[in-house]
Amino acid sequence: MNVPLAKAVGQPVSRVDGPRKVTGHARYAGEFDVPGMLHAALVLSTVPKGAVAAIDGEAARQVPGVHVLVTHENAPRLPYRRMAQRPQVDAQSGDQLQVFQGPEIHFNGQPVAVVVAETLEQAVHAASLVTVTYEEEEASTTFDIDRGKPPSSGNEKAGRPAETSMGDADAAFAAAPVKVEAIYTQPREHHNAIEPHVTIARWDGDVLTLYDKTQWVDNDRKEIAHVFGIPEESIRVVSPFVGGAFGSALRTWPHVTVAALAAKVAGRPVRVELTRRELYTSVGFRPHTVQRVALGAERDGTLTAIIQEAWGQTSAYEEYAEVTLDPARNTYACPNVRTRYRLIEMNTNSPCPMRGPGVATGLLAHETAMDELAVALGMDPVELRLRNYAEKDQHKDLPWSSKALRECYRIGAERFGWSGRQPEPRSMREDGQLIGFGMATAAYPAHRSEASAEATLFSDGTALIRSAASDMGPGTYTSITQVAADALGLPVEAVRFELGDTDMPFAPVHGGSITLASVGTAVEAACRVLLEDLSNVVRADPDGPFANLSADDLEWRDGGAVRRGGGELVTFETLLRGLRLDRIVGQGDSAPGDESKTYSSCAFGAVFAEVRVDPDLGTVRVHRIVGAYDIGRVVNPKTAHSQCIGGMVGAIGMALLEQAEWDERFGRVMNGNLAEYLVPVCADVRELDALFVESEDRIFNPLGVKGVAELGICGVAPAIGNAVYHATGRRIRDFPILPEKLL
Ligand code: MOS
Repeated sequence: MNVPLAKAVGQPVSRVDGPRKVTGHARYAGEFDVPGMLHAALVLSTVPKGAVAAIDGEAARQVPGVHVLVTHENAPRLPYRRMAQRPQVDAQSGDQLQVFQGPEIHFNGQPVAVVVAETLEQAVHAASLVTVTYEEEEASTTFDIDRGKPPSSGNEKAGRPAETSMGDADAAFAAAPVKVEAIYTQPREHHNAIEPHVTIARWDGDVLTLYDKTQWVDNDRKEIAHVFGIPEESIRVVSPFVGGAFGSALRTWPHVTVAALAAKVAGRPVRVELTRRELYTSVGFRPHTVQRVALGAERDGTLTAIIQEAWGQTSAYEEYAEVTLDPARNTYACPNVRTRYRLIEMNTNSPCPMRGPGVATGLLAHETAMDELAVALGMDPVELRLRNYAEKDQHKDLPWSSKALRECYRIGAERFGWSGRQPEPRSMREDGQLIGFGMATAAYPAHRSEASAEATLFSDGTALIRSAASDMGPGTYTSITQVAADALGLPVEAVRFELGDTDMPFAPVHGGSITLASVGTAVEAACRVLLEDLSNVVRADPDGPFANLSADDLEWRDGGAVRRGGGELVTFETLLRGLRLDRIVGQGDSAPGDESKTYSSCAFGAVFAEVRVDPDLGTVRVHRIVGAYDIGRVVNPKTAHSQCIGGMVGAIGMALLEQAEWDERFGRVMNGNLAEYLVPVCADVRELDALFVESEDRIFNPLGVKGVAELGICGVAPAIGNAVYHATGRRIRDFPILPEKLL
């Protein structure tokens, strides 16, 4: 069969959901109008460890409008059935937090009660009147690396091993003529999407509907089915729009259970919206991580030893681990590599993936250390990276399915004007400001999962594509529409893509940059099946224009079919009407094949940053950033560009601003709000640019894409830090780089 020529893919199509978003017609989870809906307010523990001794809810119950107060004393027992296999987005061992099933307290901010009332104001007021007394126990609230424990076998299997070793890194490091060694710290950071997490739960008899902010409707359904011990088929999850998430909506957090439980007890639909303060204890965070990096090299810059060790925090009830040490193992060629990973249990809510999880953290230390090595060698930082270019994934011992990183260094450096850098720190100035140029390598593994899609072509010549995917901001609505438009030979305007509903064909998690490679290939497959079916039908129609033609003699393009080698275009509209069909439907599935065992797939980039530092005040301004990326085929250069510069904005936060201030006495974040937890705002962001090298990875998947999202933040924070060093001569290894650390 002849596949239509690509027309929409590669074009900078504006977001197809843009008009709905800016006119307020996009409906987010918290905006569904559910008749009879009540509002919930949570009561959170104020101690980090122990047990609830007593709950006095009398005053709360007297508040007008209050329907129910649910605590561990009166909550129905929930089965919390174990899953045969943990979803990859959940912590890989330990016990999921069970809400209102007992008096135990694992962290400060744990839900201990929920009040349900007619209005939100009544619920919040009543919740403030609930008095809880505790039997406190001594909590682990300090980030103490001496308490570090190796991750469990579950994490080992999931690719987060306690130790790895290649060659003899310690001996090679001891013998290296040039070496650097240092400790790097990155604090706890929070996602802080603008849209808070909201769940509305409604029971119709035994059937539960959840309107939820989630990056994975199918997992929401699966988890809640297990928590309540009910069949998955009796739960529907709806989540058409997500207002940013950055990983916070990958998992199904306890407040989703609270909503469903409260709705059951109240006998009415219930809406739970987390406050900004509550987000800091409810939906995960990037774990506080300390790393030690030791690099050894020959005098010509050839790496002879890489040792990287990481200590990350996890909670006392679950074990969350990250791939922090992957960058140490495969970013550069080196015969002797040793890594070691330890976890520190603390009385805190569980961490979770956030913006380039693990990789961004690992690269922060690794790429800063590489810059320190370049300084020790008196070598250009780009030159050092080219000297140690990894021609294969040495850790997996597999060839890359594609890699155009050399080209990224080249065009990134050129666009940035890297050659104008004077190597000596503090040597470049303008208007009394110190100028610094820094760079780093970016990389994020490309993954792909099983996905399904359904394509429907209507007799009016338009198409509807459906898959239970999500679009938290990268532009999935748009890129999938483009893929489908090309696959059907239709203009983008004639195609609509719907997502975010468990009634739709299965899609994997919207995270880890896997959506386009997974859902995009399924959509292509569905469109192909549809056209094949249509081809069979029209060729079998004795009265039709293509009667008795062979499949090869039929060509699909421009919204219809033509006889190969010439002839008039017969539109879909004419074809379907002639067949008296109002629609034709195709189902498609896609899944990774053996290529994941025979190749290593990864998206790459080279990031260049210029900072301006005030020598008297220590304030750092990111003047500009240029990133050059190898993301495979670029389906939409406009949304891809947006993703990359969005990642850079996040990285400005990581480098210069973001940190949760942790109070060890109470085990809680003190700045749990957007006034004191600093994120980059418009005034912090100047010139950001992202370039894409020619690339197509048809080994990784038929679409040739490698995924963009997580890559955008990777490598940017160390590039900024390296620029700060170049500007000031001061190496700050304790992120974020605050003015007081520079003075
Ligand atoms: Mo991404 S941190 O997997 O949402």
